[in-house]
Amino acid sequence: MTENADGRRWWHGAVIYQLYVRSWRDSNDDGYGDLRGIIERLDYLSWLGVDAVWLSPTMPSPDDDWGYDVSDYTGVHPDLGTLADLDELIDQADQRGMRVLLDLVPNHTSSAHPWFTDAASGREAEHRRYYVWADPRPDGGRPNNWLDFTGRPAWQWHDSGQYYLHNFLPGQPDLNWWEPAVHQEFARILEFWFERGVAGFRIDVANGLYKDAELRDNPPLDSDNPLEGVFGMRFVYNSNRPETHGVYRDWRKIAESYSPERLLLGETWVPDAQRLAAYYGDNDELQLGFNFPFALADLDPARLAAIVEQTLAALPSGAGPVWMGSNHDLGRFPSRWCGGDERKIRLALLVLATLPGTTVLYYGDEIGMTDVDVPPALRRDHATLDLEGGADRDRARTPMPWDGSAGSGFTGPGVTPWLPMADPPGTTVADQRDKPESTLSLCRRLLALRRTELGRGLADFENLAVTEGVWTYRTGPLVVAANFTDRPADMPAEAGEVLLTTSAEQAPPSPGVLGPWEGVVTRRSGSAAGHDQL
Ligand code: GLC
Repeated sequence: MTENADGRRWWHGAVIYQLYVRSWRDSNDDGYGDLRGIIERLDYLSWLGVDAVWLSPTMPSPDDDWGYDVSDYTGVHPDLGTLADLDELIDQADQRGMRVLLDLVPNHTSSAHPWFTDAASGREAEHRRYYVWADPRPDGGRPNNWLDFTGRPAWQWHDSGQYYLHNFLPGQPDLNWWEPAVHQEFARILEFWFERGVAGFRIDVANGLYKDAELRDNPPLDSDNPLEGVFGMRFVYNSNRPETHGVYRDWRKIAESYSPERLLLGETWVPDAQRLAAYYGDNDELQLGFNFPFALADLDPARLAAIVEQTLAALPSGAGPVWMGSNHDLGRFPSRWCGGDERKIRLALLVLATLPGTTVLYYGDEIGMTDVDVPPALRRDHATLDLEGGADRDRARTPMPWDGSAGSGFTGPGVTPWLPMADPPGTTVADQRDKPESTLSLCRRLLALRRTELGRGLADFENLAVTEGVWTYRTGPLVVAANFTDRPADMPAEAGEVLLTTSAEQAPPSPGVLGPWEGVVTRRSGSAAGHDQL
């Protein structure tokens, strides 16, 4: 996990664990997970075999959007702990060979941030230009047709006589990246955390930041792909602006000035490999950008195989892809892709663990945790609470089920967790930990195999065949064969000696046959063990 002159970086081949801090482990029995809770359970992550954790927002916030409305970029939210706790977490993780990424929100702040409080104090205020203010149209209407992510107008009238822009909630005013001082502020924020040993950032709304200087109307949407636009409008002028790339070229220089190099992992909400690759620049912008077309695809081998191939072809040389199936917005892949079917969950974990580049697991993926149906009265996501048929994001943010005790090992007995646990309780970490046939044990074996066999492979991948629902690919020295159907299938000719199967019986039903929804990792004939290829 060190820097190499040959261009390898610590995140190449790594597994990053996205940890929703409020829901992982509550150390002080207030119903919210916290940083000390993570410190208590670091040995679990190290046992599982992850290389880094990405913590969901940890900075002070009024929590209109659970931390994605930041009121202080260099602090720690008091519900979650202190700066000293975060320092200790970084240190303790480091002792176990793991790194810590934070979530950075540069597209907008909270309206409670002192910059905005000042900006709102008058049109001549020092920080006025930090935000996007616009006069009404001559007819008194809003400056343009932009809508926020709830489908309501993205302009909030303010009694200083102008509208301000919020692509998310009114409590999340958009920053004005045309203002040089905003660049300086964020360069300082990056340095503040990098100096403390933070290994990098997941960058929220990474394709946002700059907005069209003329604030032109968005054109109508002619697609049902949510990555192209929503509510009948294409994302053209309120995001994906060309100027944003300059920000990442600047930040990349900052990231590269540290040793080990710090990681910029963008939430790149774009519909195809070309537009994703644009955020990598000439390998001089973000080092990683999330692949939403992959995560939002059906569990269909032809589609997934095509996306993997297109992504690898589009990325600049020396850059790696990143794969995930779940997150705190999209929901959990064990539900979305797999409908709770354990065979499918195990197969999807195999794919995630054997693709080249970087894999991000969401907390609970490793035990096959499914979405939890949170009754409306207990929902906490203000952003989507009153949306008719809107995305219910709480379903994928419920507490980690550690064990069968009162409080499920998440919190103390008798404490009401901030979001409910599954009812009836699903499977827990304790149920699975010592069972070789469990999903958790499979996940751990997959991560161990990945580490020894795939090393830091970036693009050493080749689709061998997708036939009648069986996807066969070569990844480093391995050949993976995955049966995405309810029927047994012939083992593909390219498969070699079976090193691992997703079957809970831990052996293929009969030689030369893949069971329904079974995947195997095999050694490619003639390849040596422990091969580490870029
Ligand atoms: C990102 C976050 C999401 C948040 C939004 C606004 O999409 O993942 O949870 O609501 O940005 O910050």
